[in-house]
Amino acid sequence: MKEFVEKVKRATAYIEERIKAKPKFAVVLGSGLGGIADTIQEPVVVKYSEIPGFPVSTAPGHKGELIFGKIYGKDVVAMNGRFHYYEGYSMKEVTFPIRVFQLLGVKYLFITNAAGGLNPEFDVGVPMIITDHINFMGDNPLIGPNVEEWGPRFPDMSEPYSKELSKLAYEVAKEEGIKIYEGVYVAVAGPNFETPAELRMLRHLGADAVGMSTVPEVIVANHGGIKVLGISAITDRAVPDDLKPLTAEEVLEIAEKTGQKIAKIISKVLKRVE
Ligand code: HPA
Repeated sequence: MKEFVEKVKRATAYIEERIKAKPKFAVVLGSGLGGIADTIQEPVVVKYSEIPGFPVSTAPGHKGELIFGKIYGKDVVAMNGRFHYYEGYSMKEVTFPIRVFQLLGVKYLFITNAAGGLNPEFDVGVPMIITDHINFMGDNPLIGPNVEEWGPRFPDMSEPYSKELSKLAYEVAKEEGIKIYEGVYVAVAGPNFETPAELRMLRHLGADAVGMSTVPEVIVANHGGIKVLGISAITDRAVPDDLKPLTAEEVLEIAEKTGQKIAKIISKVLKRVE
């Protein structure tokens, strides 16, 4: 664990040398949602491969860079290309960037993903504000010795997604005329999409959307005292009784379209948060 802490500190120190201002906001861009990065002004791009100890991403539709800059005058960092558990990364590697953000002084995490809609009322191409989650990945990034300087051994998770930020996101979407849902996200390990029986089970567990990411990062953000806004792009209908074969290409295509709406919501929320 000491080695892990040192690794995070080294990566943070390297980044601090490269950037002009420390970000208060971090945005994690999900599959096909990289477009948000284009709205960043005065960008300073730091490739993962340049950062000592930083993992390197392999998933389709994901780049591998941190983009530092401004949105509406606010200092932000966008993570273009995340690490998925199904790629073979450990939970510690998946959440390494979140620890770096915490040490950089990030206070707000805006996290996005592509997800299947378990709720039969959900249409594809619509964003969903994540109100809560279920960790169904069978692992947890906080397993192992606790780093007291980073957070408590048994972190509270009574408000994993900030109610205040979620309310703001909802209001902004309404003002912009963007249709939006709210719901519970369940994370599975993947990489296969779910069977009909699994989808039926996940719906029974109380989830509205299913995906293969986000939950590890949100657990670590909560541990580290970072407030979270989570938004899913509903890319397909994950409803057992009318399930059609699904490909990653379809998911990416819809995610890209939905990403434009999500980018708008996130930038308008950023504008209003101090
Ligand atoms: N299942 C799991 N992950 C996903 C899905 C899905 O249907 N769509 C996008 N990511």
